[in-house]
Amino acid sequence: MAELSPQQTACLAALAAHFSPATCLAGEDVPIRNEADTSFLPRTRPIALVRPDTPQGVADAVRICAAHGVAIVPQGGLTGLAGGAHPVPGAVAISVERLSGIEEIDAAAATMTVRAGTPLEVIQQSALDAGFFVPLDLGARGSCLIGGNLATNAGGNRVIRYGMTRDMVLGLEYVLADGTLVTGLNKMIKNNAGYDLKQLFIGSEGTLGIITRVVLRLQPRPGCTLAALCGVGSYDDVVSLLGAARRGLGPLLSAFEVMWPDYWKEATETVTGVRKPIEGQHAFYVLIEAQGLSEDIDGPRFMGWLENQFEAGLIEDAAIAQSMADVAMFWRTRDAAGEFQTILGPHVAFDIGLPVSRMDAFARTCRQRLADAIPDILSVYYGHIGDGNIHIVALQRGASPQPAAQISRVVYETVREFDGTISAEHGIGTVKKPYLGYTRSPEEMALMARIKAALDPKGILNPGKVFDLPSAP
Ligand code: LAC
Ligand code: ZN
Repeated sequence: MAELSPQQTACLAALAAHFSPATCLAGEDVPIRNEADTSFLPRTRPIALVRPDTPQGVADAVRICAAHGVAIVPQGGLTGLAGGAHPVPGAVAISVERLSGIEEIDAAAATMTVRAGTPLEVIQQSALDAGFFVPLDLGARGSCLIGGNLATNAGGNRVIRYGMTRDMVLGLEYVLADGTLVTGLNKMIKNNAGYDLKQLFIGSEGTLGIITRVVLRLQPRPGCTLAALCGVGSYDDVVSLLGAARRGLGPLLSAFEVMWPDYWKEATETVTGVRKPIEGQHAFYVLIEAQGLSEDIDGPRFMGWLENQFEAGLIEDAAIAQSMADVAMFWRTRDAAGEFQTILGPHVAFDIGLPVSRMDAFARTCRQRLADAIPDILSVYYGHIGDGNIHIVALQRGASPQPAAQISRVVYETVREFDGTISAEHGIGTVKKPYLGYTRSPEEMALMARIKAALDPKGILNPGKVFDLPSAP
């Protein structure tokens, strides 16, 4: 590790004086896991790791770092794919992992007040136990923390019905770059008293503040979950089926996930514990989920709708869930993407946004261009098609390191051509930073830089993430 500067040395001394040894770990004591997130960037050891267990502790840690001009990298569950929580050299990592727990469920307001370090799965389960539902759901649910979900405005599997993370937030508490703790734990759905400040921090990837607590809006617990895994013969039929699902299932439609055959093969043939709910070859595999009020009413409604789609010729084959175990089995084909990290090894992961009608044309073009540019390339396509969001996992077989920049350039240039966005749900971090201008106008980028300069004039919060400051310190 590089020699510490006098400011860094003084900062570590001040942190060590303020926090207990269990809260503040420095040098060799920083755990290996805090040296990286899930973006395959080279491991970087933070000069210290501070793990406060109160919001005020986070504020104190930021204040001390800011006073010494030392950079801060906020960390949570480290499941991010874009490098947002990846340490930068010479920075202190402030992790919310011990700022954990549910503070309150307010049944009348239908809200849950949660600390930033609470795992998403704990939040989901606690809501269910109380008769409510937190719709945010993604493959990393067991290890991601809500603070990171908020910092990246995570998308996930149920956006089609409930929106992105930012749509589920009523109140927020965060620490500013100078250590000010701003508590706005609003529970009211309607609150138009001035700027909606919380939305600035949600999705800002730790560059404007560190989120410490949140008031989540709870939904009623669904009375039943209905699901079908369908084989579909063409992309036009997929689009027609999506339209039919929106019309025929209305507000019950809670997921519409599409898997291309290249993805289906990897997911169902290489990932342990994944079974094929349907056999045979299809051009597309579509997981449709609906959440209803009661099995008696909504079960037959769902079946009737599916039968109509068969008769209309939009579905070639389908498996229909008979139990929650079946629903879980269907979802495993989709959650298998989370295992690619282990099974395929280092790869480049994409979360492209595109007009729904052009997804397959994009996938074909991209697949061909990657094959032309890079020998032995594997690219698989899947995603939240109902939300206009497609994922690609791409790698050159046998290559180490991966030609990540070359793969990214091919994909993002194709995204630009197709009028898409380079990030629909994972954020920019450092991995997509060179391409932000493909999706955002110069005026938008300049405005982002002005907001950053206003809120973090010294540029100490997660420096080098999302974009570089025009005049970086
Ligand atoms: C998914 C994550 C990676 O949808 O966004 O699988
Ligand atoms: Zn996704």
